[in-house]
This record gives sequence, structure tokens and C-alpha cells, in this order.
Amino acid sequence: MMRPSPGRTAPPSVYVKTYGCQMNERDSESIAALLIGHGYRLAQDEVDADVILVNTCSVRGKAEEKAIGKLGLLVAGKRERPGLVVGAVGCMARRLGGELVRRVKGLDFVVGPRRLHTLPAVVEAVYAGRGPVIDAGEGEDEMAEPLTEHLTGGPSAFVNILLGCDRHCAYCIVPVVRGREWSRPADGVLREVESLVSRGVREVTLLGQSVMSYGRVNPVWPGEYVSRLGFREPLPRLLEAVGAVEGIRRIRFTSGHPSGCTVELARAMAEIPGVCPHLHLPVQSGSDRILGMMRRGYTAGYYLEAVRRLRSAVPGLALTTDVIVGFPGETEEDFQATRSLMEEAVFDNAFIFKYSPREGTPAAAMKDDVTAEEKLRRNHVLLEDQDKRGLRINEALQGTTLEVMAEGPSLRNQARWAGRTGSNKIVIFESVAGIEAGAIVQVRIDKAGAQTLYGSIQPGERLTG
Ligand code: 5AD
Ligand code: SF4
Repeated sequence: MMRPSPGRTAPPSVYVKTYGCQMNERDSESIAALLIGHGYRLAQDEVDADVILVNTCSVRGKAEEKAIGKLGLLVAGKRERPGLVVGAVGCMARRLGGELVRRVKGLDFVVGPRRLHTLPAVVEAVYAGRGPVIDAGEGEDEMAEPLTEHLTGGPSAFVNILLGCDRHCAYCIVPVVRGREWSRPADGVLREVESLVSRGVREVTLLGQSVMSYGRVNPVWPGEYVSRLGFREPLPRLLEAVGAVEGIRRIRFTSGHPSGCTVELARAMAEIPGVCPHLHLPVQSGSDRILGMMRRGYTAGYYLEAVRRLRSAVPGLALTTDVIVGFPGETEEDFQATRSLMEEAVFDNAFIFKYSPREGTPAAAMKDDVTAEEKLRRNHVLLEDQDKRGLRINEALQGTTLEVMAEGPSLRNQARWAGRTGSNKIVIFESVAGIEAGAIVQVRIDKAGAQTLYGSIQPGERLTG
């Protein structure tokens, strides 16, 4: 068992600070649950934690700088708090390994995203004076089930279905830091979903860097599985099986790639009750020339065709996307192609990123020739376009009544609640007595912003989850 710092009687407490994507959020939750299972308790705040883990992201230089800054501050805090243990986990831990201990003097451990199951032993080794411990992880041993522990509480949960990524887009560090693509066998996924639902979860989001590759590299279904709806592809089959779990109300999956937007997937989204009409489908650029250099494996026309296939099957489908501006060699003409594609695809929301060269990726060898000011300008232009587009789309929803899953009091105003539509739009509504997180209620939309809808609960609703 773990060894608390000298003189301490209560079990040591742990705090996990998270940077990066939903996969990191998921990992942080399972790290916390795993350590609780080993006798730790959860600290409310980093200031009263005995062990602080920073779950890091490597996707852009900025994300890494932030985490390194944070780790530096935490390690400096050890002077006032002897016995404090500080470790880095996640993508940057994998990318930098022991180098991170040289950069952040006093760091106690570095554990990569596919080695998180070693954390209880790692922290124990640090307590036993055998730190710093480096377990960045690489090689074949990483083809293993991910952590499946969850914390209790809340109506929504993330479930990993695919680890790593074999796509090798030219700009992306993910294949380096998250390793080879590996899909979890469906039975393990289903057991996890069933257990979540038995603990009150009503909505699951199935996660994978390129989730539509599910089952592509390794088989995930035993031969005898028969899909009632006649699906042959692994992801539609999984969606159907998850949808059949008694008590599940909503199913999401992310992130997508246009090559996975097959006729069957479109049909799965349309026909399986509970599968939400929303897809995050990163496009990255609207210029065929840039898409080619990015090695995305599609053209703008192919992407738009995938969008048409989905939209014609799934009524009310919301699409969100990621775009990179300022990729090496991106001209004004390329940029304008991105602007028009975004308009043509009618995205509900978009995340815009300024290109950041990542060492070890093919694009890092290209000249990062779009100036910082120009990247910023393009970023602003796309955000402004998106704001107008988002507002236009959301205004058209005014006066309609949408199904909303209540999530909890709004952060800004506790008299109001926040929830989400199936299309993943945030809805703010006046709270009513007795409402519980997880309740699915009908909300009439009275007002629309570019990112948020405002409405009122329709009378006669069941308010419990
Ligand atoms: N520079 C900028 N943005 C990037 N992304 C991934 N790699 C980079 C990079 N090197 C963006 C992509 C991806 C999102 C998670 O981050 O748009 O979809
Ligand atoms: Fe997530 Fe990618 Fe960042 Fe890792 S590098 S946390 S996979 S966004």
C-alpha cells in the first residue's frame, strides 16, 4: 500500500489537473478512481493535496508551455510543503520522458498515457525514496485494455473505444504520444457501459482519436454477433449494442473522419434510438492543396460529400469541426477555400487553431512560413464567420421545443440550469423545483446566441434522471 508522508495519519490525498482533450479528461478520471481504489482520497483543491498529477497535452506548443509552467510552480511549492509529490502524466510525459525531469527540476514522476495503470506503484516508489520515476512507455506492451475505473456521480460519462492513432496527419503529434491504433473488444466496452448505467449514467460518449477506425486494425466482435439492423461495420454494430443497454438515453462518439462517414454509419445515426444527431468532424482545411500536404486523405469535395450523406440521413444533424490556420505554405487563396468550405458545410461550431510545428512530425520539416500576425488574423476571420453562422443557425431554433438533458446549475447564475440538446448545443433555462441532473426535459427556445440557447422548461415534465 501507499506510504503517506511522515507523521500523517489520514490517507494521502490526490489532485489531478487536466490539460487537453476529452481523452485526457477521461484518463484523469480513471487515474483518480484508480488511486482511490488504492487507498487515496480525492483532494478538493491542489493546495491541500499530498500528490498532484498534471495530465498534459502535446498537441500544440502552447499547451506544453502551459503545463511546464504549471509543473514548475507546483515543484517550487515543495519548499513550503515538504512531502508534496508532483508528477506529470499524459501526452507530454510520453513525448519528453526523462527530459521533462531535466526541464522541471524536482519532478517526482513522468508517466505516459498508455502506462497509467502503473501509477499506484509509481507513487509508492516515490514515497519509498526511489524517485524520480520515468515510465513514458513505448513498444508493444501498450496494446492493452485502458483503465476502466470511473468516479461516481453525474449523468454523463466518457468511454474509450479506440486508443492511439495510425493516421499520421503531417502536423499531428498524437501518433507519437498515444502510440499505435488499438480498438477495445466490444464486450469490454459493453460491460463498462452497463456498469456505468447501473450507477446512474444516462449518456455515454465513445472516445477515440479517429473513432471511425474502430475495429479496423484488430477484430472487436466475435464472429457470431448478429446485428438486428443488419450492420456489418464495427462502429455501427457497437452503436447498436450500446443503444440496446437498458437505461441508456444518449450515445455520442468522437472524433470523426470523413472516410468513416459511410452509408451504414449515416443509417446507424438515423435509426438507432439514443444516438445523438451531432458529429465532430474535423476538416482542418478547405484547400485540396493544403489537405494533401497535411496528408488528410481526402479533398474538400470528398468531405462535403460525406457531410451531404450524413445530412440527408439524419434530420437536425449538427456538425462541428476543427480547423488549422497557417499550415506551412497556406496562401490567401487556400485560406479563402477554407472559408467557403465552412460556409458550405454549415458548421454549428468550429474550433480554430493556429498551426504549431511539432518536433517529430512530417510537417516540422516544412518551413513554418505564415507569420504569427497572419495566423492570428486568419483565426479571427474564421471565428467571426463562425459566430455569424452559429447565430444564424441558432436563431432558426427560436420558438421550437428541444429535448434537453439537464446537467446542473449554470456557472454564471445559480438560479438557472444548463443542459444540452442531442445536437450538443448548450441550453440555459430557469431552474424549477425538484430538477435533477440527468433529467431529460422539453425546453422551448426563447433566445439564441452564437454558442448558447436560452429557453424555458415546458410544464408537466418529469424532472428526475
Ligand atoms: N498545430 C495546430 N493545431 C493542431 N491540431 C493538431 N495538431 C496541431 C498542430 N500541430 C489541432 C487539429 C486537431 C485539434 C485537436 O488540434 O485541428 O483536430
Ligand atoms: Fe488529447 Fe492530443 Fe492533447 Fe494528447 S496531444 S491530450 S491526445 S489533444
